[in-house]
Amino acid sequence: MQTRDKLVIHGASPLNGTVGVSGAKNSVLKLMGAAILTDAPIELRNVPQLADVKVMTEVLRHLGAKVTQQDDVMVIESKEINRTEASYELVSKMRASFIVLGALLGRYHEARVSLPGGCSIGKRGVDLHIKGLQALGADIQINQGYVEATAPRLEGRDILLDTPSVGATENIMLAAVLAEGVTVISNAAQEPEIVDLANFLNAIGADISGAGSTEIIINGVRKEDLHGTSYTIMPDRIEAATFMIAAAGTRGNVLLDNIIPGHLNSVIRKLEDVGAEIVLEAPNAIRVIGKEQYEAQNLVTQPYPGFPTDVQAPFMALLSIADGVSIVTETLYENRFKQIGELNRMGAKIHQEGDIAVVTGVPALMGAQVKCSDLRAGAALIIAGLQAEGVTEISELQHIDRGYECIVEKLTQLGASIERVTIDEEPAAQEALPVN
Ligand code: UD1
Repeated sequence: MQTRDKLVIHGASPLNGTVGVSGAKNSVLKLMGAAILTDAPIELRNVPQLADVKVMTEVLRHLGAKVTQQDDVMVIESKEINRTEASYELVSKMRASFIVLGALLGRYHEARVSLPGGCSIGKRGVDLHIKGLQALGADIQINQGYVEATAPRLEGRDILLDTPSVGATENIMLAAVLAEGVTVISNAAQEPEIVDLANFLNAIGADISGAGSTEIIINGVRKEDLHGTSYTIMPDRIEAATFMIAAAGTRGNVLLDNIIPGHLNSVIRKLEDVGAEIVLEAPNAIRVIGKEQYEAQNLVTQPYPGFPTDVQAPFMALLSIADGVSIVTETLYENRFKQIGELNRMGAKIHQEGDIAVVTGVPALMGAQVKCSDLRAGAALIIAGLQAEGVTEISELQHIDRGYECIVEKLTQLGASIERVTIDEEPAAQEALPVN
């Protein structure tokens, strides 16, 4: 929901201490969608409190599922699903809700799901989702902004993706769980969230192997084979990366807890290349030790295990104060450089040429009033504000609320001076004058 709230950051002081990383946004949303494959109750643990999770909750409730949440534990019961339609009002709020297409088709053999919205970071088609579902035997029409799919029978097939799309891999996996026979997805996305989804699906009775590699094999099972489970969501590797960069950028010393270091290899490598020190302190904890000066580094975003596009904007905030010229190439989304204008307002020297940004490091950033344009651009501005001298005011926080749980509290705990100033949506009604 749009908000007029602002973050006010007094920057240029190092982050110090320990921070616990929350459950992964990009995993929980898909597992929530997958939960409707079975009638049995599903318990999800380590669920982050995020605006996007609220939207997915609304999507599931709209379908007729019962969703309850207490702290970080969510229970989803889908035995009373009475609708197979996900409306524009809901799906346009968040692209990830498009995942219900595969799940509804798998379980109910029909679905009507609005074409998605989400972050304004480019064209982001769903052609691969649709082609994959058609290959499994679905009849799909696009009608007035809706994808209308029916499939009296879904049959396992070999599906080769043109590009390793995360969402398409997930949607096809969900539809294939209850298809007849074997589905093989080649050139599949290898992101850890895909592995989390496969582990969850196997925990409820699916038969999936190969997740995390480029070839995923789904042996179809019967509806009756699926059952309930209790499953803990993996840690959010993008949130972890954001804190790691903030620790380095503020020349701090931060221990990140509840992470899977192996998910962060490309980010760790890049942080080491610029000059930060990274120490593995426990199997699920790493320490980031900042340095006085960083060296420019080139960066190219890639599907996993390459450098994540979601970390490109936050990393650019760090490169903006590194010594020398960095070239950042965004290969996934044509519109994911929206942070540049705002970083430049803070004194950065960044020049964009198509999908390349040339970042000429400056000695320091200066606080300014800036606006978030999307989730990860917002994260970049927070890091920039923490690094900058003076006061930074960040608005359009609804983008940050989508994907960072308790970010103000977590940064405050690390010693940051950051405050959320709440601005009422409606001016307070004038008090009635006393009648004499
Ligand atoms: C997911 C993540 C997002 C991340 C992205 C890439 C969620 C909720 N979001 O998004 O944070 O940035 O992976 O790691 O999990 N494409 C097509 N046709 C399709 C599908 C995708 O052309 O049918 C293209 C996209 O435009 C993009 C590329 O494929 O250029 C990768 O997109 P994809 O992996 O599908 O990203 P999402 O699943 O939307």
